[in-house]
Amino acid sequence: MSIDQNLDEIIKARRSIRLFTSEMPTKEDIKAIIQAGVLAPFAGLANTGKDGRKFIVVSRNNPLINQLSSVVKNRAGVFAEQFNAQTNSNPILRAQGQGFLKRLEMTAQQGPLGIGSAPYYIVVAEKRGIPDVQHKSLAHCMENMWLKATALGLGFHLVTITTQMEQDNEFCNLLSLPFGEYRLDGCAIGFPAQNPPQPIRSSIDDVTTWFL
Ligand SMILES: Cc1cc2nc3c(=O)[nH]c(=O)nc-3n(C[C@H](O)[C@H](O)[C@H](O)COP(=O)(O)O)c2cc1C
Repeated sequence: MSIDQNLDEIIKARRSIRLFTSEMPTKEDIKAIIQAGVLAPFAGLANTGKDGRKFIVVSRNNPLINQLSSVVKNRAGVFAEQFNAQTNSNPILRAQGQGFLKRLEMTAQQGPLGIGSAPYYIVVAEKRGIPDVQHKSLAHCMENMWLKATALGLGFHLVTITTQMEQDNEFCNLLSLPFGEYRLDGCAIGFPAQNPPQPIRSSIDDVTTWFL
């Protein structure tokens, strides 16, 4: 896939890629992806945008990746226990949260997908502010990065458990982030080793209401 594909093609080609080859993407490509993230919108009222957003790139060749993976693994176990306890007193949460609980338990057993299983794990940190909209900012940032990675022929998947790790002192310390000051999100990037089938998408007519 080449960089001059038009926007529609790139949007269509964007997929969650969770299996990667052993080849490392170049630092230039990673920088181009970060540039796309830098250009994503930020909440002007909540932060100035100057030092508001940080990118931390961890290659799977750096020993830090194992430390991060193990901190996330342990935390996922704690989150699973806490969530399980909450569902005991809340039948609706119990009924609807089974998938989430299973995911947490799997992470606690096997470690987090994307942290060590991909050539790069990138954490994006957005300085907290009022209103508390940093996770929305981060979602915009992630989408820009995802589309750029797609345009470069790279695979990408979100590592959403990163958002919960902003509550973990050790995780923030490992990344040299001041604890409590940033909202976080994360993603994994590498060369794709899979071509997942297209999910069923709604047709425009089915999902749109017009008032013209
Ligand atoms: C808010 C949000 C969080 C997500 N978190 C994860 C995640 O932690 N790990 C993952 O592999 N995919 C994650 N996904 C990706 C979705 O599973 C994926 O986008 C969806 O299944 C559609 O597949 P596609 O991305 O290939 O089009 C997330 C997507 C969204 C919108």
